[in-house]
Amino acid sequence: MRLYRATDYNDMSRKAANILSAQVILKPNSVLGLATGSTPLGIYRQLVEWYKKGDIDFSEVTTVNLDEYAGLPKDKTQSYHYYMKHNFWDHVNISPEKTYIPDGTADDAKAECLAYDRLIAGIGGIDMQLLGIGNNGHIGFNEPGTSFNTDTHLVKLTETTIEINRRFFDREEDMPRSAFTMGIRSIMQSKRILLVASGAQKAEILNNAFLGPVTPSVPASVLQLHNDVTLVGDAEALSLI
Ligand code: GLP
Repeated sequence: MRLYRATDYNDMSRKAANILSAQVILKPNSVLGLATGSTPLGIYRQLVEWYKKGDIDFSEVTTVNLDEYAGLPKDKTQSYHYYMKHNFWDHVNISPEKTYIPDGTADDAKAECLAYDRLIAGIGGIDMQLLGIGNNGHIGFNEPGTSFNTDTHLVKLTETTIEINRRFFDREEDMPRSAFTMGIRSIMQSKRILLVASGAQKAEILNNAFLGPVTPSVPASVLQLHNDVTLVGDAEALSLI
């Protein structure tokens, strides 16, 4: 694993954006696996800024997102589809037909998951997967206890995740209880992984994930078994590493 220590959130965002843009410059038709959550917002902001200055070109890039809430139509402001459009896709020259994210409203969840895995395989797999980490060690929405052999699947969110993510919803009952997520195996099949973390609330879980035992109770610990992982964290997040 490569570890880059950033001073603060902005520095973390810039360093991670540099790594993603290097990927796109070296391979203009890269398949980027993208993530949502608060942590990557600064990365998207930075990439948009560089795009506007003419420093980076996304015209040949394909993106596949990690996850989406089940039951949430894509035009709802809390959907990850909306997040991606609003924070990234709409501001760069990426072709809309080359941006993929699970359809949260799919009636046949199994078929949707299978189609998503086939899609990823069909475009040649993910060159670089961006990941955040949940306070309980989840990656995507692979909650503690998820088998390392999972492909894209529908998950029931844990109470911890519901508690943390409900801040984005007006009413508690609006917060979805399940989500589609790439599985651990789907993530591990990416050629390169870039995990970003910021803030003191991530320090303990990062320590458990990267220096503790590899166990499904800490889903991110599986990354110790991947041969190309880059971790970019700010000083607070890396305070125990
Ligand atoms: C969400 C997402 C994850 C994300 C995590 C951490 O539940 N499904 O992909 O990594 O939470 O989010 P944040 O970056 O806001 O701490």
